[in-house]
Amino acid sequence: MPQNASVKKPQQASLDALYHLVRDDLKRVDTLILERVKSEITLIHDIARHIIASGGKRIRPALTLISAQLCGYNGDRHIALAASVEFIHTATLLHDDVVDESKLRRGLATANELFGNKASVLVGDFLFSQAFQLMVGDNNMRTLRILSDASAIIAKGEVMQLMTEGAPETSIESYLQVISSKTAALFAAACELGGVIAENDEWADALREFGIYIGIAFQLVDDALDYSADQETLGKTVGDDFNEGKITLPVIYCYGAGTRDEKAFWDRTLGNLQQKPEDLHTAIMIMQKYDAIGKTIGMAERYCEKARKTLDVFEACPEKRAMLDIVDFCASRVY
Ligand code: IPE
Ligand code: IPE
Ligand code: MG
Ligand code: MG
Repeated sequence: MPQNASVKKPQQASLDALYHLVRDDLKRVDTLILERVKSEITLIHDIARHIIASGGKRIRPALTLISAQLCGYNGDRHIALAASVEFIHTATLLHDDVVDESKLRRGLATANELFGNKASVLVGDFLFSQAFQLMVGDNNMRTLRILSDASAIIAKGEVMQLMTEGAPETSIESYLQVISSKTAALFAAACELGGVIAENDEWADALREFGIYIGIAFQLVDDALDYSADQETLGKTVGDDFNEGKITLPVIYCYGAGTRDEKAFWDRTLGNLQQKPEDLHTAIMIMQKYDAIGKTIGMAERYCEKARKTLDVFEACPEKRAMLDIVDFCASRVY
């Protein structure tokens, strides 16, 4: 399993069935990824290895593998496609940490912190290029379209998010559009690929829907964790979203329900980015007053319920069981 020695993972149990079922394939995916980032250009090699070897849950490639297995696929195409999915994810993380000015990722200093913004952006581009080479290597228009569409939607989502920065009056609908694009699109693609290579359109559609719903839930929980997690367990800095004026659901709830003074607080801290050291604590207190974290998790749970229903088309089997466990993990994860 992907391990990150510096991060405790108390809820690992709920992904255990998944990791167990795809263990050998996931090893092949990791080997392929590491092979593809070997480069005579030391900076590429150093940064790519830094982010890839630091672990990560590998949940997206594992979803491609388990989806393929659930659909009875028994070829080899899922390995390169899963690697492509993880390359897209890793590339977006490198770029995202530059944009978000994040200092901690997977329990370690971010690449931008260690190597600088320029190098992170450029090596992020290199990782995207690896994803594209792998998807072209599959030699199939449909899988190529799924992955290239997902990349385009993620990029749009990140730009949409930038446009909502500092605007706490952002609607829940716009927020959901942002997270559907920046996060759920790749989960959807990862899952759909399994059904597509197994050549079962009905299952591919169900898996795509499954991916959208768990992807939305995953990001909702991520946005809750940004205000409520134990930083060491999370492996990322708690309060990053607040520090950069990112508008996420806990803030949207508080702003909508807030008193005049509270609205002025959000306008100052997130709208104008005028923050004092104690402001993050105040933000968390206001969130507790409105149960904004609980409500955000509540919405994630509703998306998880939708995700579970999409699996009705599949007969009971260990793969389906593992996918139901992934849903539980998405709703309750702490890292
Ligand atoms: C982080 O994704 C980016 C989000 C969509 C919130 P993960 O939480 O899957 O990151 P790793 O790969 O496990 O580090
Ligand atoms: C997810 O958003 C970013 C991408 C999908 C690229 P976040 O900015 O919340 O992710 P983290 O918290 O940095 O992992
Ligand atoms: Mg970020
Ligand atoms: Mg986050």
